[in-house]
Amino acid sequence: MQLLRPSPDELPDLAELYRTPPGPWLRLNFVSSLDGAGHVDGRSEPLSGPADKRVFGILRMLCDALVVGAGTLREEGYHALRLDAERRAWRVGHGMSEYPTLVVVSARCDLDPAHEALADAPVRPIIVTRAAAEPGPLTTVADIVVAGDEQVDLPAAVALLHERGLRQILSEGGPRLFGSLTAAGLVDELCLTLSPLLAGPGAGRIIAGPPIDTPQALTLRHALLAEGLLLLRYSR
Ligand SMILES: NC(=O)c1ccc[n+]([C@@H]2O[C@H](COP(=O)([O-])OP(=O)(O)OC[C@H]3O[C@@H](n4cnc5c(N)ncnc54)[C@H](OP(=O)(O)O)[C@@H]3O)[C@@H](O)[C@H]2O)c1
Repeated sequence: MQLLRPSPDELPDLAELYRTPPGPWLRLNFVSSLDGAGHVDGRSEPLSGPADKRVFGILRMLCDALVVGAGTLREEGYHALRLDAERRAWRVGHGMSEYPTLVVVSARCDLDPAHEALADAPVRPIIVTRAAAEPGPLTTVADIVVAGDEQVDLPAAVALLHERGLRQILSEGGPRLFGSLTAAGLVDELCLTLSPLLAGPGAGRIIAGPPIDTPQALTLRHALLAEGLLLLRYSR
C-alpha cells in the first residue's frame, strides 16, 4: 500500500511521462466523476480541470490519429484538430506530421459535412464506416475507410489505420466506442482522470454496450494529483 499526496517533487516532462512503447498502440483518454459519471448534462467539460486539459493536450500531441465515435463528435462540440505552434514544433522535431489525423467512427454516416471538425480540419479527416453505409456528401470533406459489411469491424479498421502509417492511436471515446474497443481486445492503455465531483445518479459511465466475456486487467503506470483531480495512467 502507498500513500499518495501532494509532493514537492518536480513534475517530470509530461510528454516523456506519457510516451508510449514504439510500434502500434491504442490509448483511451476519459474523465469520470467520483461516482462514475462519464458526463454532466451530456458533456464531459464539467468533469475536467486545467491539469486534465493540459494532459489532454499532451496526449493529442503524441498521437498519429485521434479516433472518436460519431456521438462524441456530435455532442462534445469538437473543433478542428489544430495544435498550437509549440506542440506542432514538438511533433515535427520528433519526426511526426504537423497535426494528428481526426478519425470518426460511424456506422450510419449521419454526420454533418459542415461540422467544423471535418470542414475546417488542417489534415483531411477519415471516417471509418461499414460497407452498408452511404457516406454521400461526407466524401467531399473526409476519406472514407470501409471496415466490415453490416457492422464496423474495429480490428480491421485499426489495421487499416496502421497501414496508413497511423500507428499511435488516441481515442477520446465515447462510451460506446470504448465498449466496442474493449470487447474487441484492442485497448492497450487507459488514461483516466477522476474528478472530485459527485454527479449523482442518471449519467452513463465512460463505457457502454453489451457485457464482455472476460474483464481485462490493467497495470497502474502512474498517478498524478493536481487540483484535487487524480490523473491515472493504466496499460496492459
Ligand atoms: N467522460 C469522458 O471522458 C467522455 C468522453 C467522450 C464522450 N463522453 C460523453 O459520451 C456521450 C456520447 O456517448 P456515445 O456512447 O454516444 O459516444 P460515442 O461512442 O462517441 O458515439 C456513439 C456513436 O459512434 C458510432 N460508433 C461508436 N462505436 C461504434 C462501433 N463499434 N461501430 C460503429 N459505430 C460506432 C456510432 O455512430 P453512428 O450513430 O453515426 O453510426 C454510435 O452511434 C456524450 O454525452 C459525451 O459527453 C464522455
